[in-house]
Amino acid sequence: MKHWRIDDVAWDRFDAAKVDRELVPLVKAAAMVERNGTDYAVYLNRVFADDPDFRQAADYWADEEVQHGDALGRWAMLADPGWDYSAAFARYRAGYKLPLEATASVRGSRTGELIARCMVETGTSSYYSALAEATQEPVLKQICKNIAADEFRHYKLFYDHMRRYLKRENIGLARRLRIALGRIGESEDDELAFAWHCGNQAEGRRFVRSDCTAAYMARAMRFYRFRHVERGVGMVLKAVGVKPRGRIGGMAAKFAWRLLQWRRRRYLRQLGGMPGAGAAVAAQAAE
Ligand SMILES: [Fe+2]
Ligand SMILES: [Fe+2]
Repeated sequence: MKHWRIDDVAWDRFDAAKVDRELVPLVKAAAMVERNGTDYAVYLNRVFADDPDFRQAADYWADEEVQHGDALGRWAMLADPGWDYSAAFARYRAGYKLPLEATASVRGSRTGELIARCMVETGTSSYYSALAEATQEPVLKQICKNIAADEFRHYKLFYDHMRRYLKRENIGLARRLRIALGRIGESEDDELAFAWHCGNQAEGRRFVRSDCTAAYMARAMRFYRFRHVERGVGMVLKAVGVKPRGRIGGMAAKFAWRLLQWRRRRYLRQLGGMPGAGAAVAAQAAE
């Protein structure tokens, strides 16, 4: 059962004057990745072929992810009436393929697969919490709050199944940590960069991954506050089996916050060297 529906969103409250133009391209790119949830469910159904409970949960989960994409896509078309969500997603789908033929997890174990899913949900729950707080536009605020609540529930879903598999597969702490950090690192990989490309760049333009990553990340990182990073780090630690509170948690949160600032500055520098990025860089540099 979904916890909310697209029709529950108060679309008539949309206020064009309150749209932060820097947020629109982020929403377009996020819509692509979210909408692709169905393919992830196909992959998860294959990896967990003999686990009907998890397979059913994965199908419900995918329905919610698709709804995230549809809600974000619809909002982006209100904010930019010239944008075509379906056409952008068709481009994304044609160019970005998951390993749908896999019969085992690309993470080496089911526990590893579920830890990786926890990392994704950690990232999305933090991201939509940050966007919900940052935007003044009431419809986007409502959508992002709804999505963030779903993402926290998704984390718990994958975490609970992960604990079940961990008892069986007994993967060591070092390996769990490696899988978690590996998946976090992939957030700067093709999935988001290509979503940026399909959501925001003209058809026919060549896809340059590093440029798209910089364009996406420099903008996205602007919206995080320390509390989002702190909570996210706590969720990462919990998923790998380290107590999230206490000294290690505090140090890890501070380190992650500094790392985020450092990477953001690096992306901003890269973005500054790209054509057409002047306004974005100037707006951020002024903060
Ligand atoms: Fe989502
Ligand atoms: Fe999710």
